[in-house]
Amino acid sequence: MHTESSPSAAATTTAPAPAYTGAGLELKDLTLAYGDVEVVRDISLRVDPGTTTCIIGPSGSGKSTLLRGINRLHEPKSGDVILDGASTLGKHPDQLRRKIGMVFQHFNLFPDHTALENVALSPWKVKRLPKKTAFELARARLAEVGLRERADHKPRDLSGGQQQRVAIARALAMEPQVMLFDEATSALDPELVNGVLNLMASLSGRGMTMVVVTHEMGFARRAANQVVFMDEGQIVETGTPEDIFDRPQSTRLQRFLSEVL
Ligand SMILES: Nc1ncnc2c1ncn2[C@@H]1O[C@H](COP(=O)(O)OP(=O)(O)O)[C@@H](O)[C@H]1O
Ligand SMILES: [Mg+2]
Repeated sequence: MHTESSPSAAATTTAPAPAYTGAGLELKDLTLAYGDVEVVRDISLRVDPGTTTCIIGPSGSGKSTLLRGINRLHEPKSGDVILDGASTLGKHPDQLRRKIGMVFQHFNLFPDHTALENVALSPWKVKRLPKKTAFELARARLAEVGLRERADHKPRDLSGGQQQRVAIARALAMEPQVMLFDEATSALDPELVNGVLNLMASLSGRGMTMVVVTHEMGFARRAANQVVFMDEGQIVETGTPEDIFDRPQSTRLQRFLSEVL
């Protein structure tokens, strides 16, 4: 049976926590479409360096498409994505994805590789670090997410929560300036959710710039600097967690919160 480490066990396997220097991110009038159908329209948003923005909203409101547009898994129709003060739309998507890490609902690990290999592969093959350096880096990243002792396990021998932490370590191994999370805990068994949320909160507290699409309103309340409510492809409200959860202005947000809280 897979269980998450108890807090005391995690403490013995978690390496000293490094600080991050997340970059600022700005979306300017970003529009994304599937064919002729615009599913994200004119989104403008500022994410200050080292802060966490949580995006909430009903299913189908364009949250995933927006995240995919930020790192160009989906090519924007118009608008711009400014990273660390510079437009990214002229950049090759591969270059951009080294700077913007993404973690998905389904962990997308390579099933035939160990946890360590999953984390080391991109630094080794994409960043072209020497193999030894890439594997040392991967070990450090795994330790950082509390998985030092699981380095040689294949994904099938890890719990969902552990697999997601490997996926987070894999993204961190590229030393991104921004991390995007798309419902990173939605596929997890309930008892595994908190371990991953705690790790995300810890990254957030250590200076990573994060944009987090989540259904976990408790997480948004405690970890977000700003919360964005999206509906029908647009931002309806933006504010602090207190603004959004305690003083929702629009009837759409009030209705959404009454359904999810
Ligand atoms: N590959 C696709 N082709 C066409 N339409 C899509 C595709 N993916 C998503 N959509 C549509 O785009 C809209 C936004 O979807 P999505 O970004 O996944 O929303 P969310 O993540 O908020 O649930 C929805 O209406 C969805 O049906
Ligand atoms: Mg989605």
